[in-house]
Amino acid sequence: MLVIETKKELKDKLSAFFSNSKSLGLVPTMGALHAGHLSLIEKASKENDQVVVSIFVNPTQFNNQKDLEKYPKTLENDLNLIKTVSDSIIVYTPSIEEIYKNNIAAEVYNFDGLDTVMEGEFRDNHFNGVGTIVEELLTSISPNKAYFGEKDYQQLQIIRKLVQLKNIPVEIIGCPIVREESGLAMSSRNERLSTPMRKEAALIYSTLKDAKEMFGTKSALEVIEWVENQFKNNTFLNIEYFQIADIETLKPIKEKLSNKKYRAFIAIFVDDIRLIDNIAL
Ligand code: PAF
Repeated sequence: MLVIETKKELKDKLSAFFSNSKSLGLVPTMGALHAGHLSLIEKASKENDQVVVSIFVNPTQFNNQKDLEKYPKTLENDLNLIKTVSDSIIVYTPSIEEIYKNNIAAEVYNFDGLDTVMEGEFRDNHFNGVGTIVEELLTSISPNKAYFGEKDYQQLQIIRKLVQLKNIPVEIIGCPIVREESGLAMSSRNERLSTPMRKEAALIYSTLKDAKEMFGTKSALEVIEWVENQFKNNTFLNIEYFQIADIETLKPIKEKLSNKKYRAFIAIFVDDIRLIDNIAL
């Protein structure tokens, strides 16, 4: 398996590939890979002649320095996991200098309000950071398809907006959330949960499933109140937000309309570990 650290070397490798007009798939990651990432890599491998997996912990998307410092770095394990899918995948592991040169700063985008709700409300500048790195990867690698998980559904919608805004010729593919046996959405952050906390965190998805059922017969407001109550007296899990939003605009629901589709979104703190999840309603 080829591991490449510079843009130039990656371009050289891929140029031979482009001249044969084959299809290239990109799976951008920040490493600490788990079964959720592997499902993206497997899908990309099935749908393309060549796959690039990028591993880059992007500093400009962290609003919290501690979260950045604590972000797990497990390159050797990541490479072994990627190899289990295919040995012919190219892994791109640029340094911070390679991506940002001397200016570690995010570009400012106008994402039409998609970035000011939910995660955007609680993570200042986060989506500008995501936009900056994803634009850089898409324009320097020029994949035909790029794969992102629906666990970060807001990010997925923002990336769709980004490629529209910047006219980047790529198909953005959203992939379903992969869950642990307990229902907890797979996340690199789960590794930081103690065994009892991990058990407790299963409440997040079971609550989302109940909320989905309730949404069939109750008003959005009743569902929101009910969900908030589920976490009110929980000593381990602290709710940051629970919202029901339009799947296209991500605007919070005002009244249920039959011609609109909705999704419920949640962010929970377990100690200082922040977990997010969502469900289609
Ligand atoms: O979802 C992630 O892991 C990151 O936000 C991404 C898309 C790789 C950009 O750094």
